[in-house]
Amino acid sequence: MTEVRSRTGRMLRSLGVAAVLLPVVGAAMWPVTFESREEVFDIPKGTWARRMAGQKHEILPSEIRLMTDIHNVLLLKNSDDVPQIFGPTMLMPGQTLRLPFSRPSENYFACTAHASGQLLVIVEANPVWPWSRLGWRARRMWRAWPRDWFDRPRGRSVSYAEARAIVDRRCVECHAERPVSRAFPVAPQAVMLDTPQSMKKHAGRIKVRVVEERTMPIANLNGMTEEEREILGGWVDSGAPIP
Ligand code: HEC
Repeated sequence: MTEVRSRTGRMLRSLGVAAVLLPVVGAAMWPVTFESREEVFDIPKGTWARRMAGQKHEILPSEIRLMTDIHNVLLLKNSDDVPQIFGPTMLMPGQTLRLPFSRPSENYFACTAHASGQLLVIVEANPVWPWSRLGWRARRMWRAWPRDWFDRPRGRSVSYAEARAIVDRRCVECHAERPVSRAFPVAPQAVMLDTPQSMKKHAGRIKVRVVEERTMPIANLNGMTEEEREILGGWVDSGAPIP
């Protein structure tokens, strides 16, 4: 009886050890691969307008990592409707620029699409040894860990009342049956957000325009804050509850 139990115990223990070791060994042996040589860096439409509206929040990454041999081409694309300057190059709206890198290096480029005015391109050496692959994977996981992990209001369910207060403050001056905005005497695109039903009806687009594209409130004329965007997005993620 005890014999059997200790044997099962041993087996479970070695299974546990294997469960821990296998991914580590895998991460060391498996070669690093990418879907393509290119890393696309797309400057979205409205970037310049956002900057002019005084928005400091960076939606573009300020650092790009490439890898020699296998992921070493930066493909810049200007989807904005004004020219953007990248390093010594001016990119007209709609233009793309291919920048191949061959050596491990750190390159700072002046970039008008960033609030900081610069972009760092880090080119790492392709890790060919198990130990360096393991190190690379560990560093990448660490970097992917959100810095604001502990103080973010994660997955919190947001009530209608909270969302209502924000929409009243930031949207209804234009999006109402009778907008008070002098610039928009009728609700743009007939989107009225002054009733619970209409808010719910437009929930999907609210998330897109306020959180993903950040193109509403238009040019952020009334100074909507990051926190308000997050809460309003949270209301949509909570299933857009209404009374
Ligand atoms: C100063 C006026 C103004 C304010 C404030 C404003 N909008 Fe708009 N909104 C517009 C205009 C103009 C359009 C039409 C042009 C466009 O789509 O960019 C529009 C269009 C929209 C549309 C419909 C287009 C689509 O993409 O489906 C949605 C949804 C929207 N706004 C949501 C909001 C939300 C949510 C807020 C508040 C956080 C807000 N807007 C604040 C002026 C405003």
